[in-house]
Amino acid sequence: KRTVEDLELNGKKVLIRVDFNVPIKDGKITNDNRIVAALPTINYVIEHGGKAILFSHLGRVKTEEDKEGKSLQPVAARLSELLDKPVSFVPQTRGAELEKAISEMKDGDVLVVENTRFEDIDGKKESKNDPELGKYWASLGDVFVNDAFGTAHRAHASNVGIASNLPSAAGYLMEKEIKFIGGAVDEPKRPFVAILGGAKVSDKIGVIENLIDKADKILIGGGMTYTFYKAQGKNIGKSICEPDKVDLAKELLEKAAGKIILPVDTVCAPDFDNDAPTEIHENNIPDNLEGLDIGPKTIELFTKELQGAKTVVWNGPMGVFELPTFAKGTIGVCEAIANLKDATTIIGGGDSAAAAIQLGFADKFTHISTGGGASLEYLEGKKLPGVESISDK
Ligand code: 3PG
Repeated sequence: KRTVEDLELNGKKVLIRVDFNVPIKDGKITNDNRIVAALPTINYVIEHGGKAILFSHLGRVKTEEDKEGKSLQPVAARLSELLDKPVSFVPQTRGAELEKAISEMKDGDVLVVENTRFEDIDGKKESKNDPELGKYWASLGDVFVNDAFGTAHRAHASNVGIASNLPSAAGYLMEKEIKFIGGAVDEPKRPFVAILGGAKVSDKIGVIENLIDKADKILIGGGMTYTFYKAQGKNIGKSICEPDKVDLAKELLEKAAGKIILPVDTVCAPDFDNDAPTEIHENNIPDNLEGLDIGPKTIELFTKELQGAKTVVWNGPMGVFELPTFAKGTIGVCEAIANLKDATTIIGGGDSAAAAIQLGFADKFTHISTGGGASLEYLEGKKLPGVESISDK
């Protein structure tokens, strides 16, 4: 793919699609990782004399009422702090005010356009990649840089639409995500160990199916363990289970021929409560209890299985890590990965990225993806429209 360094930027209006879809509570950004992750590209553009015009969505918008709390204004303010320079914000996605603000920009200036999904109220123009909208946005600039890896699994007007109307390139974040996630899946250094967790098997089927031939081992934890336990005929008590996925879990276990490694013990409690009394059970779980984390023997087993790994991809927490009582498994796995020497270690976005950051391991991994859905689809081996639409060299 062409990258931002291949573009002539001096004096140009550079449209940059970023993923600034960040959590905001009471008008305050609670996690600015995605903004921080976009800084290298924005800085490169402005240091090379470009006018940086930023597009992003924020949340999902269907009605006029949905707009409440979804303006990008607080994001522009945070970006200004991080860049340590003024950032202008235009509360419009199209029209005279936006066009005037762009025409008044000087080289090195930064401008944030309002939430692209405000265009979804009237006919889902952004989400359905309305050709006229992509063309209009493209008309506001000279070149297009796509740095929104988190949005790459969507074919929307602000990524695919603009790219089909302008010379385009990948930004640094996009490049980095492709390098690490794509590299792990396509040409991993071996042994390659995948650790998959999270509540549902159904969310991870595609990933397991894609990695079954590629990974050397797949360690499974989290809520989806119990669907696999059920497939092995174990008693799972009140644990979360997807009954319609039990047969599939059985098939995956057979197909994996020993590559899939399941927990050997479970931290159980009668309720989903941090103060609930806990018990550790191996194999069968009593009827009145549910499994909420992997147990100490499993942490030991997974740590052992990770020894010597050269590539590790982790997606999905090992337990209900939001409650400290059930966070030990996720912390244990974090530590085991963090202690590996000479390994490329990747966290595939979403909850596991949040867990690693919240637990203080943010700088202990080679790469923490900014994509949730996008990194999952990438691990499933799917082609991402946002990536595909970027011009080749
Ligand atoms: C994400 O947070 O996964 C991306 O920003 C995409 O958001 P979406 O699922 O609303 O399209």
